[in-house]
Amino acid sequence: MPNANDVIAALELEVHVEGGYFRRTYQADHRDMLETRTGPRYLMTSIYYLLTEDSPIGQFHFNQSDILHFFHLGDAIEYSLIHADGSLQTLVMGKNVLAGQHLQLHVPGGIWKASRLLHGEYGFGLISEAVSPGFDFADMEMGNRQKLVAQYPQHRALIEMLTRDED
Ligand code: GUN
Repeated sequence: MPNANDVIAALELEVHVEGGYFRRTYQADHRDMLETRTGPRYLMTSIYYLLTEDSPIGQFHFNQSDILHFFHLGDAIEYSLIHADGSLQTLVMGKNVLAGQHLQLHVPGGIWKASRLLHGEYGFGLISEAVSPGFDFADMEMGNRQKLVAQYPQHRALIEMLTRDED
């Protein structure tokens, strides 16, 4: 069974600003760009995204685009989604569909998302994400701990676990 470093090397992944590792695998550059409120975007982009024991958290961030997540390999990953009304949704992506784990997860644009590798036998979890309109850093906001806690004080402990301490 491959370990995390084998997967990083085989898939040529790089460090992601949210935590974890990624590589863009697709962008719809054979099609017209979409005009969005924030500028022209690819119709769709896709990445591999990997969490490992050394980098187990994808920190809270906000996307404008819809994102489809597909689980591939390894240990389960827990997703925390904070909706605009403050409600929290917790879901687990993984292969154990009989236990309610998800192979696919649709996260609509306009909410805060974080992910966390759950302990398991592999030491990594690998998914893909398909983003439409295509990913652009201008459409993504990294979560600031103080600001998020002020906005959603009922989720303070979770936000503190899943954001970087910038002080
Ligand atoms: N998150 C989802 N898609 C992407 C992408 O293409 N690039 C980066 N950096 N992050 C993403």
